[in-house]
Amino acid sequence: MNSPQPPAQRGSGAEDLARHRIREAVNAAVSRETSQTSNEQGAPMVLADGSYRAPVSRETFTASLPEGAVVLPEDMNAEVSRETSFDDDLPIAVEARRAVDVLNPEGNVLPRPRFRRVFGVANQKGGVGKTTTTVNMAVALALHGLRVLVIDLDPQGNASTGLDVPHQAGTPSSYDVLVDEMDIRQALVPVTGVPNLYCVPATIDLAGAEIELVSMVARESRLRKAIDSLPDEFDYVLIDCPPSLGLLTVNALVAAREVMIPIQCEYYALEGLGQLIHNVELVRAHLNSDLKITTILLTMYDKRTKLADQVAAEVRGHFGDKVLDTVIPRSVRVSEAPGYGQSVLTYDPGSRGATSYLAAAKEMAVHSGKGED
Ligand SMILES: Nc1ncnc2c1ncn2[C@@H]1O[C@H](COP(=O)(O)OP(=O)(O)OP(=O)(O)O)[C@@H](O)[C@H]1O
Ligand SMILES: [Mg+2]
Repeated sequence: MNSPQPPAQRGSGAEDLARHRIREAVNAAVSRETSQTSNEQGAPMVLADGSYRAPVSRETFTASLPEGAVVLPEDMNAEVSRETSFDDDLPIAVEARRAVDVLNPEGNVLPRPRFRRVFGVANQKGGVGKTTTTVNMAVALALHGLRVLVIDLDPQGNASTGLDVPHQAGTPSSYDVLVDEMDIRQALVPVTGVPNLYCVPATIDLAGAEIELVSMVARESRLRKAIDSLPDEFDYVLIDCPPSLGLLTVNALVAAREVMIPIQCEYYALEGLGQLIHNVELVRAHLNSDLKITTILLTMYDKRTKLADQVAAEVRGHFGDKVLDTVIPRSVRVSEAPGYGQSVLTYDPGSRGATSYLAAAKEMAVHSGKGED
């Protein structure tokens, strides 16, 4: 895709130019994507009844736990006891309880997918809301009874920060899983105050992993192998990707069955879209024939700007029902929450940011057929 220039002037001429360029950008992205659909192989990922076909073998988890592994709650197998429970009185647990009271007063449980759904949350454009989306979607799903694992695959460690999970150098982390083949169960930790939610943190060590991986055997599929070894009981795995298309993101795309792309409602956010889609196609063609872009989420929507509407309309026009109906508004509360090691759902459950992420998560969980061709 050609790098577009910003409109040189304000006013209707500039708006027309912006609209034209948005259309061009999305057209270029989409034409690449659709030209590759004939390469797809295998059965559909999401079944007609909305359930999800197994991304990995789901044999019962019987392997003995490695030393240091987190012991998952016994009721992970129980279909009945899936309500959230708050066993401690830590401030963050109190916040989580308050969040559930506000956001889920009737104690509803979201439908559990028949098979685990693994998402790579990707967009090589920086700052478009990947981490914010990963964290808040994960918390929303977990507060509604689903078992969720967040894998922080970004050396910045922002998802770990947002979930308040320790991630100082030396902590068992995604680096150890990828580079040293540590058992992933040794690296995952429960997120305090949010039952059902676990995280594999990222430490700064991960910054070197891109280079270290280059010479390694099966360098693209190491995360997939680790996720395949996870207990069945996880319903959702959300992988927060770094803002690049290097080996870390490739590992996420090989491990995932679904790609979720947060798109910021701003002109430049569309710039890298074609390249991202092209990379998804390459991974699908060569490394993971099941991979699909199923979910696009419009983020940081500012209703006061015409551009936000234009971007949203163009993206919807081209990607159809892959785009969630729910749009995440630009909101100060969303951006404040990570500073307190919280999601916006626990930080300010009544805020528009919280209710929007909850609605987006529900859409994703309930309409799992979205994005199916
Ligand atoms: N809906 C929102 N309203 C206001 N601020 C937001 C919203 N979503 C995200 N932000 C803020 O925008 C910044 C970028 O968000 P985020 O870190 O989620 O993006 P990212 O795509 O993960 O970035 P990176 O590419 O660096 O990993 C953060 O400061 C975040 O708090
Ligand atoms: Mg991020």
